[in-house]
Amino acid sequence: MPSRRHVLSLLSAAPFSPALTACAEAALPDPYAAWRAPGAGETDTRRFALAHAILAPNPHNTQPWLVELSDPDAMTLYCDLDRRLPFTDPLDRQITIGCGCFLELYSMSAGLQNYWPAIEFFPEGEPTPRLDARPVARVTLGPRQAQPNSDPSTLEIANRRTNRNPYQTRVPSAEALDELVNVVVGMGEEYTGGVYWTNDPARVAQGRDLVWRAWDRELRTEGAAAETFEWLRFGRRAIAEHRDGLGMSGAGIELFKLLGQLDRDDLIDPDSQANQTAARNWREMAMNSPAFLWITSTGDTPSARLNAGRAYARLALAAANMGLALHPWSQALQEYEEMADLRGEMRDFLAPPEGETVQMLVRIGYAEASAPSARRDVQDLMRA
Ligand SMILES: Cc1cc2nc3c(=O)[nH]c(=O)nc-3n(C[C@H](O)[C@H](O)[C@H](O)COP(=O)(O)O)c2cc1C
Repeated sequence: MPSRRHVLSLLSAAPFSPALTACAEAALPDPYAAWRAPGAGETDTRRFALAHAILAPNPHNTQPWLVELSDPDAMTLYCDLDRRLPFTDPLDRQITIGCGCFLELYSMSAGLQNYWPAIEFFPEGEPTPRLDARPVARVTLGPRQAQPNSDPSTLEIANRRTNRNPYQTRVPSAEALDELVNVVVGMGEEYTGGVYWTNDPARVAQGRDLVWRAWDRELRTEGAAAETFEWLRFGRRAIAEHRDGLGMSGAGIELFKLLGQLDRDDLIDPDSQANQTAARNWREMAMNSPAFLWITSTGDTPSARLNAGRAYARLALAAANMGLALHPWSQALQEYEEMADLRGEMRDFLAPPEGETVQMLVRIGYAEASAPSARRDVQDLMRA
């Protein structure tokens, strides 16, 4: 019988690598179907664009989106308020970024069918301090244009992944990193923040230490660990049933489920053997980060966060197009009390210009391709 230590090392090694194999539970939908030829055969451009938008990066893969298609050429986006992360994201800042990513993918993919949509943020007013039941955005397709969107990054929508594999020692060049900066600068007036990076070994070493300490702090903060636990999906059946959250699958997980060895107490106790092993793996990921890149917004309003999400989505697609792997490390950017000192340390370290707020921080480099994460169907997003 496998030892508990072995089980737990599998657990921590696999947390974010869903198996690519089709779901064995025949009665359940394939949780990865959304990634294959999104929108194929769809004649309504809005539904075609939604089939792409649902592939957007979003915190903990909660997929916090609800949509309405009541007017013929419009899509109204709402936040699914039950899919937020109130402990680690008390201001809904990251959830709002995830909505921005969704809007960007919607817009880029509508462009494949010659539409250049107009996006109006918060048409019934900006919510504060958190998101509320009012719409996040209203997107209108407008008249069909002669030219389609020919940006090659758009074709990466179904290939983009958050890559949590080990990263090679190869360091991305200044030219490559600047190319990503230019992708966001190229958004023009649509984006008013900044993109910064470092591949300087001394500075990267400091960043590694800081992202690692923040990860560890999060593990040791009970409310945060408990919240993450709610979004972990153990094994193929759970992944296929939910088609959201952070999937863990593979032979080890199935075996441990059978043996009843994945219990909540163990997984939220920071000193359990499971978490000690997970921490070793995550520390290694942090310590092997070849470079860091961060996106800021001017101000930190809900609209600024949506724009940061749009910029992150664009940048992530361009990175995919360039063969670069990305992996956000958001812990030290989060606003909960137990993180306050490390948040301050991170702000000092990243030193954004006066008036700018760091919205996304990622490690960036080269790694083996990673597996897709689960997605629900577009139909699941329709507001009743
Ligand atoms: C605002 C935001 C914050 C995120 N923070 C983290 C993070 O701290 N750690 C991590 O591993 N992934 C993070 N992610 C990545 C998401 O977990 C990921 O997008 C989601 O699980 C879906 O997977 P995919 O990007 O491969 O489609 C973040 C994504 C967004 C948009």
